[in-house]
Amino acid sequence: MIPVTMMMAITVDGKIAKDKSQLADWTSREDKKFFVEISKQHGVIMMGENTFKTFPAPLPGRLNVVFSRADNPPPITGVKWVKGEPADVLAELEKMGHTSALLGGGAALNSLFLEKKLISEIILTVEPKIFGAGLSLFNKDLEANLKLLEVKKLNDNTLMLHYQVLS
Ligand SMILES: NC(=O)c1ccc[n+]([C@@H]2O[C@H](COP(=O)([O-])OP(=O)(O)OC[C@H]3O[C@@H](n4cnc5c(N)ncnc54)[C@H](OP(=O)(O)O)[C@@H]3O)[C@@H](O)[C@H]2O)c1
Repeated sequence: MIPVTMMMAITVDGKIAKDKSQLADWTSREDKKFFVEISKQHGVIMMGENTFKTFPAPLPGRLNVVFSRADNPPPITGVKWVKGEPADVLAELEKMGHTSALLGGGAALNSLFLEKKLISEIILTVEPKIFGAGLSLFNKDLEANLKLLEVKKLNDNTLMLHYQVLS
């Protein structure tokens, strides 16, 4: 199975958005640059339909793999619509020649992949913000043990945390 890295921006209180339609445009310039760099390295960014709908257009230069239960989603250049088991989707990506994939949210997709133990690494950027309420990284009862691989400051205020998922 190709390895999956989950990459998300969070507030200091662990939120990823105030609601499901909020565009993740509240992060720092350095976070956005880092996200583009890492996602382009993988070449594939997987996401849920709610996340995709927050974008004005597919993310360029990367295959956008969008999980949706829609029967006939519209063909869009750069987008691969998928549904069902995440392991089957990863097997399909492997057959297409991809050697890794980035998982870019939201809470539903992150939970789907973590529940099936399909996330190898997690990269979080912690932005100096508090939302108080909203969506968390995951949206169900889950448990995982992590190992901290790296901590880096992306700027004076933004922290990057890189974890390995142990079990
Ligand atoms: N801060 C960040 O870095 C960041 C990154 C990404 C997204 N976000 C935020 O996260 C929010 C969206 O998160 P979300 O949890 O609401 O939604 P989401 O995870 O983006 O998407 C959920 C959608 O995926 C579908 N889906 C789930 N599992 C599926 C499967 N196995 N096969 C086919 N379709 C499947 C769901 O259908 P069902 O409902 O029928 O299950 C639902 O329509 C937005 O506000 C976005 O801005 C933040």
